[in-house]
This record gives sequence, structure tokens and C-alpha cells, in this order.
Amino acid sequence: MTNDNFWLEKWEKNELGFHLPQVHPLLKRYFLAKQSGTILVPLCGKSLDLLYLMQYQPVLGVELSTLACEQFSHENKLDMTPEKSGAFNRYHTQQLDLLQGNIFDLKHQDVLDCGQVYDRAALIALPQSERKNYLDHLFSILPRPIEYWLITLDYSQTEMAGPPYSVAPDEVKSLFQSASRIECLSRKSIIDKEPAFSSRGLKDLFETIYRIELM
Ligand SMILES: C[S@@+](CC[C@H](N)C(=O)[O-])C[C@H]1O[C@@H](n2cnc3c(N)ncnc32)[C@H](O)[C@@H]1O
Repeated sequence: MTNDNFWLEKWEKNELGFHLPQVHPLLKRYFLAKQSGTILVPLCGKSLDLLYLMQYQPVLGVELSTLACEQFSHENKLDMTPEKSGAFNRYHTQQLDLLQGNIFDLKHQDVLDCGQVYDRAALIALPQSERKNYLDHLFSILPRPIEYWLITLDYSQTEMAGPPYSVAPDEVKSLFQSASRIECLSRKSIIDKEPAFSSRGLKDLFETIYRIELM
């Protein structure tokens, strides 16, 4: 099964263990909005983080699943009738463009106004063979400078098969080797708060938030 089909099936079966019923605490604690510019939220699902970010600046979300976009619109009582826009279906409301389609179809002209990226459970949703392609694609279309906010999980990949995949600090360093600055803002073990992961065999699980500058 391709990774795309894997995720579409997760939405169809309503297996949404990754979806949080609240705004991500690390976003609330660390994120600093910019005065201007749009924030790109790749692989955004129906995350409530979109609503949080919309309070501060325009947001561009990209999500493969139509169900996710429909649920986001319905559950948050937003009037977002989709219209065709190139390779995407565009759901629009004030401060938010939600593009339903494949992140690899996103083009430079779609992200001209972007100054930031917020990646929570996007990089770690992709298998190792796709992670570099995903970032190379984003790096090739995004304007500069860009600030990349990244939240990862890491654990011993021998104890559990992903997703979420383990993306350890060394891999972040290597994937973002073109960055001018990689700042680790917090790295903590969260295994005690994640019984679902303990029951999948994990002995430890770390959550990390980075602020990365690309010039
Ligand atoms: C682990 S979920 C994370 C969702 C969201 N970031 C959150 O924090 O709740 C990964 C999401 O990426 C979407 N996705 C997977 N591959 C994609 C692709 N190639 N283009 C766009 N979205 C994709 C899936 O449908 C899924 O909603």
C-alpha cells in the first residue's frame, strides 16, 4: 500500500489517534507569530492548531484527505465550500486557505507569501524513503528567509513500526543541513502520558520542538 493510500484509509476508518482534541501545548508555549506573511501547515489533517494560528496570521493548510477537510469545516462550523484550484480543491475562510490534495503538487506560486512553516506530525508521518523528498520539495518551492517550526517524536524504531516514525535529533540535523540555525526549544520524554504507545511496546518516547531558520 502506498503511504497516500495508508492515510486515506485511516480517515475512512476514522482511526485518528494522532488528532488532538485541543491545540498542541508546545505550539501554545513556544510559537511566535510573525507580523506579516502566511504560515504553511503541511499535512494538516483537521488540526485545531489551524484555528489557533488563524488568530495571528493567514494560514495555508495542505491535506490529502477530503474527509479531513470536510470534518474540519463541519466540526468548527466554518462555511468553506470547496472550489477547484489547479491540482487542489480549495476550502477558504477568513485567514485560512485549506488545500485538499497532495503536498507534492504544491507550487512556488502557492507559497509566495509564506514566511513560516508549522510541521506537527507531518515529517514523522512519512517513511524514511519519503522524508528527504518531502523536505527537498518544500525547500525548492518556499521563499527565503523561512522559519520552520518542527515537532517530532523519537523512540527506538526496533520497538515499534511507524507511523508515527521516529525522527531523532541527528536525522533532523542531517535533513536540515542547509539551515542557518537549528534551535531545539524543548525535548522531553512523554511516555508516561502516552499509554497507547507503551502498549505498542515502547519503553521511551521523546517529543521535541525545533525552530529552524533557512536563509
Ligand atoms: C499524522 S497526521 C497529522 C495531521 C496534523 N498535522 C495533526 O497534527 O493532527 C498526517 C496527515 O497527513 C496527511 N497526508 C499524508 N500524506 C500526505 C500528502 N502527500 N499530502 C498531503 N497530506 C498528506 C494525512 O491524510 C494525515 O491527515
